[in-house]
Amino acid sequence: MTKAIFPGTFDPITKGHLDIVERGSEIFEHVYVSVYESSEKKTLFNINERVEMFELSTQHLDNISVSPYKGLTVDFAKKVGAKAIIRGLRIGQDFEYERGMALVNREINNRIETVCLISTLPNQFISSSRVKEIAQLGGEFNSFVPEKIYQQAKIKLKGAN
Ligand code: COA
Repeated sequence: MTKAIFPGTFDPITKGHLDIVERGSEIFEHVYVSVYESSEKKTLFNINERVEMFELSTQHLDNISVSPYKGLTVDFAKKVGAKAIIRGLRIGQDFEYERGMALVNREINNRIETVCLISTLPNQFISSSRVKEIAQLGGEFNSFVPEKIYQQAKIKLKGAN
C-alpha cells in the first residue's frame, strides 16, 4: 500500500485539516503530516507548537505521524518514501491554486502524485487565518478547531490581541 504526505503550515490546525487527514488515513497505509517551517509566512505558533497541536488532535489515528520539514515538499515526500501528496479542496479558488501547485510539483518530481480530497461541507469556509482573526477580535472559535487543542490555542490567540 502507498504512503502519503499531508503538507501545510497548520498555523493552527483547523477542523478542516482534521477532516482531510482522517479521510487520508483511511486511504493510505501511512500519512506523514508535514508541517512546513515557513519562511515566507509569518506564523503565530512556532514550529514546535504547530507540530504538537497536530499530534494532540490526531491521537485517535494510528497510521499517521507528524514532523516538521524545510525545503521542497516533493523532496520531503521522497525522503520519507511517500508516493502521494494529499491536499484538501474547498470552495472557490482552491482548485486553480492546487492545480498550479500540483503541476509544479510534478514537473520537479513526476513520481509523486497529488491527490485532492474535497472538504466536507461544514469545512468549506475554514482557514487558519480566519480562525486567528475571529479569536483575536474576541469571537468564539471553538467550532473551527479540534477540541483537544482549543484551550492551548485560546491562550495564545487571545494573548495576541
Ligand atoms: N481545511 C481548512 N483549511 C485549509 C484546508 C482545508 N482542507 N486546506 C488549506 N487550508 C487553509 C490553510 O490553513 C491556509 O490558511 P491560511 O492561509 O489562512 O494560513 C490556506 O488554506 C492555504 O493552505 P495551504 O495551501 O495548505 O498553505 P499552507 O501555507 O498551509 O501550505 C505548502 C503550503 C507549505 C504546502 C506549500 O507552500 C509548499 O509546498 N511549500 C514548500 C516549498 C515548495 O515545495 N514549493 C513548491 C510547491 S509549488
